[in-house]
Amino acid sequence: MFADDVRQGLSATPRQLNPAYFYDALGSCLFDAICQLPFYKITRTELAMLDAHAGAIVAGLPDPACLIELGCGNGEKIARLVAALDRAGRRATVHLVDVSASALEQTTHRLARWHGVSVTAHRCRFEAGLAQAIAQCGARGAVMILFLGSNIGNFDPPAAASFLAGIRAGLRTGDKLLLGVDLVQAEAELLLAYDDPVGVTAAFNKNILLRINRELGGNFELSAFDHRALWNADAGRVEMHLLANRRQAITIPAADCAVTFETGEGIWTESSYKYRPEQVAALAAAGGFACETRILDAERSFSLNCLTA
Ligand code: AVI
Repeated sequence: MFADDVRQGLSATPRQLNPAYFYDALGSCLFDAICQLPFYKITRTELAMLDAHAGAIVAGLPDPACLIELGCGNGEKIARLVAALDRAGRRATVHLVDVSASALEQTTHRLARWHGVSVTAHRCRFEAGLAQAIAQCGARGAVMILFLGSNIGNFDPPAAASFLAGIRAGLRTGDKLLLGVDLVQAEAELLLAYDDPVGVTAAFNKNILLRINRELGGNFELSAFDHRALWNADAGRVEMHLLANRRQAITIPAADCAVTFETGEGIWTESSYKYRPEQVAALAAAGGFACETRILDAERSFSLNCLTA
């Protein structure tokens, strides 16, 4: 629960907040805005790769193809695969899993233009939604799970491997997982992506404090915190923090929480792990998948991995 997670996170050392809480209505809009920025290339690159390879990606799936997307966002990615199936005269059964009602609505609406597609929305966390979706697939050939946008990068590597193993546990041998993973790049590129000069990522980061104020009655002064992004080369991750630029006594009544920030003290809000291509195959293996096909963009900044259970 939000209040419990906030209390525990702000009492921990280092202080931290779970990045899953970025995505309230405003946070989701800010994330969509980040994806429009020229500095944040994940979304654009992945869409271009799907445009180029969707036909090959869905070619081996049965008819109708069963696609299950974990975290559908605005639906523009799965729409590429559904369009490729449609072009080949094939049908699709789609299951969407997301905690956001607006993401599910937007995607369902986007897919409605294809008549050979049935769509079921599951408004819940990934694990529960995947179990429901698989149970509803009934008698079936291979299903394809989509976990795109480098969402896997927001787990630390052991948690990423157990997340994949959790997916694998609900699948049959031969089922597929399409995994989008952002790759290690030049530090300057990564810092620009996570600390953009327009300030959208800073607003996205600070919105988590606004959410605590709004939903839990907190008294965070947003101007007293600065957005900071850094590349931790040893750990292979971009970290986002919020650093107090003056002393702050914070109370959050609905979380039964009181904390003081000295100048320079911070809250660690997100890690975005970046992988090398060979590390993706090792991660897949640790989760019980074989990496069947790996597609890289021309700049080798992003990988689309077709994994087999
Ligand atoms: C959703 N996730 C993969 C994004 C990322 O790149 O880690 C969230 C994000 N954080 C800052 N910008 C975008």
